[in-house]
Amino acid sequence: MRAHEAGALHSDIGNRGPAWLRTPVDVNALVPQLWPRTATRAADGALAIGGLGVREIAAEFGTPVYVLDEDDLRSRCRDFRAAFADADVYYAGKAFLCRAVVRMIAEEGLYLDVCTGGELATALSAGMPPERIGFHGNNKSVAELTRALDAGVGRIVLDSFTEIDRLTALARERGVRPGVLIRVTVGVEAHTHEFIATAHEDQKFGFSLAGGAAAAAAFKILDDDVLDLRGLHSHIGSQIFDANGFEVSARRVLALQAQIRDARGVELPELDLGGGFGIAYTTQDDPSSPQELAKRLRKIVDGECAAERLAVPRLSIEPGRAIVGPAVFTLYEVGTVKDVDGIRTYVSVDGGMSDNIRTALYDASYSATLASRASAAPPLLARVVGKHCESGDIVVKDEFLPADVQPGDLVAVPGTGAYCRSMASNYNHVPRPPVVAVRDGRARLIVRRETEEDLLALDVG
Ligand SMILES: Cc1ncc(COP(=O)(O)O)c(C=O)c1O
Repeated sequence: MRAHEAGALHSDIGNRGPAWLRTPVDVNALVPQLWPRTATRAADGALAIGGLGVREIAAEFGTPVYVLDEDDLRSRCRDFRAAFADADVYYAGKAFLCRAVVRMIAEEGLYLDVCTGGELATALSAGMPPERIGFHGNNKSVAELTRALDAGVGRIVLDSFTEIDRLTALARERGVRPGVLIRVTVGVEAHTHEFIATAHEDQKFGFSLAGGAAAAAAFKILDDDVLDLRGLHSHIGSQIFDANGFEVSARRVLALQAQIRDARGVELPELDLGGGFGIAYTTQDDPSSPQELAKRLRKIVDGECAAERLAVPRLSIEPGRAIVGPAVFTLYEVGTVKDVDGIRTYVSVDGGMSDNIRTALYDASYSATLASRASAAPPLLARVVGKHCESGDIVVKDEFLPADVQPGDLVAVPGTGAYCRSMASNYNHVPRPPVVAVRDGRARLIVRRETEEDLLALDVG
């Protein structure tokens, strides 16, 4: 659906909720696949995480607040690492990055994908070994590439001929030979349950495979012999549940690998299949485990390599959402509850599109629960909305909350670890919420709340 200019879902009146959303038998129950692994309802009925109740978290840090279950995040890193034991797992920092998370993923043995100078600075300042950093982006500046070279990042994923020229000149000047991959636009675009093999070349990322630019880029790098071409890269989209897109993309990218071998006698040693592995935002989502993903990807790559008579390259993947997404929920306080003429109940919380733009931007679906207490009231279909000046300022389009939900209650929205804090804004001059990591009954502030003073400090006119 296309969002109305006045805001997403502006004229979507009278919706009784999507067909997949069932009235819950117990409105207080936590559906396990939606919540961080240590989430429970404590004896008092309130949501608890890492052994700590959300009322204590709200009392100490205020609301809204992003709550990170550190054990959950670490266990997802370990799951990916174990499943992809013979591959390199790059955590895609664009999903969410701060120094504490850099340290967590480094300690768990992951690599890190950054795509701007700011992400690189965060990674380096947290002590991420530069050789375990990959640098992405479709418009890396000379300053960013210089910084990446000077830091000694492990690999740079090239996205355009201009960038090849830029990096070649910088590498020559410095007498270094950086490792590079070529980002290939394979003609597969997989988004939210579909994979569409049309209109795929019309996008800003990468070198087109069909148009021959990807092969030309590889030949240019090999012939210039300044950069160390390690392999090909493809990333086909986000929130993918279906392995078909990976199959088509691996087949196409390995055919290019064979073409390069045949033309230049070089078998590139690495292959990156990108990220995009889906997570559960609602009960309709059924993600694969890292083990299932690894098995399927490995089978696809082995099969295609055998067909092309290629040695199997070292694989890497770049999951962001699948590592940090499910580890975080956002805790809000309810400010108003409004029944609009029997059409819909709007539950307004103290944040909104400034801390989670995904609903307005992508028409994304989320879930929610009454977090500060359990309730014996019957389920009520509600829409959780924010406090911003947009009718499209929706956090959760449709969810059953207890009918007695009221101002002062805490509501938690799970699955907000990825692309929420990292895409947060100051719309309406709302300071961005803090991130609190919880583990073993203790909460630790890892990103502090922005203040009005922070906002005014930038306003120097
Ligand atoms: C090149 C690349 N790799 C990895 C990712 C991470 O995707 P996800 O967080 O869906 O796993 C992205 C996301 O946009 C990307 O562009």
